[in-house]
Amino acid sequence: MAYLSWSDDLDTGIVEIDNQHKQIMDFINRLHDARQHADRSNIVAVVDDLVEYTLSHFAFEECLIEDAGYEFVRGHKKVHELFVRRVNGFVERLAKGEDISHELHSLLHRWLFSHIRHDDAAYVAAVRPKMKVLTETQAPGGWLSRSLKRFFGG
Ligand SMILES: [Fe+2]
Ligand SMILES: [Fe+2]
Repeated sequence: MAYLSWSDDLDTGIVEIDNQHKQIMDFINRLHDARQHADRSNIVAVVDDLVEYTLSHFAFEECLIEDAGYEFVRGHKKVHELFVRRVNGFVERLAKGEDISHELHSLLHRWLFSHIRHDDAAYVAAVRPKMKVLTETQAPGGWLSRSLKRFFGG
């Protein structure tokens, strides 16, 4: 399966969200690399990191759209939740020694791009105007730095 690359139609125009989506894409490409080398311990490590980062991204994104007053937050959370459940199923099978890396890679690839293009794109018009001020505030006490710290640590 091909290496994923970013294309402009994936941009939401919200810098932090775009950076996080690109980071998730990098993790998916790392999974691709680990598969090429058939390195099981590396596959397990990459999947762990990918899941942890994706959960942080979902939590950050849900907080962002909620604070911006997006009207379909509940539906969006539900979509994230169902995806997490599917991924957890793969993680469990992986832990049991099954090689699910191809299936998982293909799910992640299809799901991520489709979710960004449809579900995430749907909140942009509502969220971007309100969040512009917040996401541009880099001050330590500002919304952005507080939320990044809360969901990504550091
Ligand atoms: Fe999302
Ligand atoms: Fe997202």
